[in-house]
Amino acid sequence: MIYLDYAATGPLNARARDAMAPYLGGAFGNPSGLYRIGREAQAAVDQARATVAGCIGARPTEIVFTSGGTESINAACLGIAYAMRRAGSGNHVITTAIEHHAGLHVAQFLEELGFEVTYIGCDGSGRISVDEFEAALRPETVLASVMLANNEVGTVQPVAEIARLVREYASQRQHRVLLHTDAVQAPGWLPLDADTLGVDALSMSSHKFGGPKGSGVLYLRRATPFRQLIHGGGQEMQKRAGTENVAGIAGTAAALEFAVAGISERTARVRRLRERLRDGILATTPGAAVNGCQVDCLPNNLNISFEGIESEALVAGLDRRGIAASSGSACSNSTWEPSHVLMAMGVPIRRAVGSVRFSLGEATTEAEIEEVIQVIPGEALQARAASLALT
Ligand SMILES: Cc1ncc(COP(=O)(O)O)c(C=O)c1O
Repeated sequence: MIYLDYAATGPLNARARDAMAPYLGGAFGNPSGLYRIGREAQAAVDQARATVAGCIGARPTEIVFTSGGTESINAACLGIAYAMRRAGSGNHVITTAIEHHAGLHVAQFLEELGFEVTYIGCDGSGRISVDEFEAALRPETVLASVMLANNEVGTVQPVAEIARLVREYASQRQHRVLLHTDAVQAPGWLPLDADTLGVDALSMSSHKFGGPKGSGVLYLRRATPFRQLIHGGGQEMQKRAGTENVAGIAGTAAALEFAVAGISERTARVRRLRERLRDGILATTPGAAVNGCQVDCLPNNLNISFEGIESEALVAGLDRRGIAASSGSACSNSTWEPSHVLMAMGVPIRRAVGSVRFSLGEATTEAEIEEVIQVIPGEALQARAASLALT
């Protein structure tokens, strides 16, 4: 198989597997236990917290382990918005129209809870408008949530610029506006430093950077108003109850450490492969066009629209040839909806329905990319014929 869906998930990194192994076996203690294997489990969690904090320039006490990116995003948005409203600070939230569904649907839930939410649009390259963001800030704004890199088209958002605006606005009015970023697609591909980004909260999902599924990280800057989402015991410094997933936490730390350490070499190599794939497809496949920003973008993400094709037909054809890529559409009520991200970018619907995301990984090779370039024109032709037959 040629796997080009690393933005969806990837294999467990060998270092992460090794780090997890003891806690899936004999070292099964509950970190709350006061006896030896409990203390050992607690020490593993503490060590992992320090490692993760070191990877993003944070303090260990600012790291909360969660069940994944979705939980981190929900906890950050709901936990901060709720705490701010309870303190009487306001009930307005700003987010973007191109967030992952985890962010978009939690914003819709905030609306159900009585918050007012402003959704910022983006330009044709998928970059959100900083001016529109600035104009949306108002005295009741308590939270802004802006993703760091888009999972569908790879466009990197001006989060540090947004953070500066938020700080300026807040300091002029002696009023706090907290900033969260969904950084799920970033580890291993973009530099990640909480202070450089200037965010108060940041979400990550372990399986996107070589860690295990069902594990994630929420960075919460010290003194960020926050009401916990999951109630129960006092774990995770009262910010996320429940017996810790010790193996998942150990694997998360090992994977993140590996992802961060190899970033320069990995991004340079994979960016070249991505560009070769892009240029190869565009040169050989009529009707192919790239979606998303080509400058400030994730080095591993390539989104291409094939005009006159339904992307599911092409993805199925590629699958028959042993190539795994992702269709840009989402299945809702058994119909294929064009991607909300491409719609927000103003991509015409006939192109949006034919979009395929190729996302590369550490293990992607030149030979694989060359094979995909060979296979695509024929499969696109067949998918076009199949799509035409349906209309
Ligand atoms: C940008 C972004 N945010 C959030 C998520 C949700 O992560 P998870 O499914 O691991 O909870 C994803 C997963 O694809 C993502 O790409």
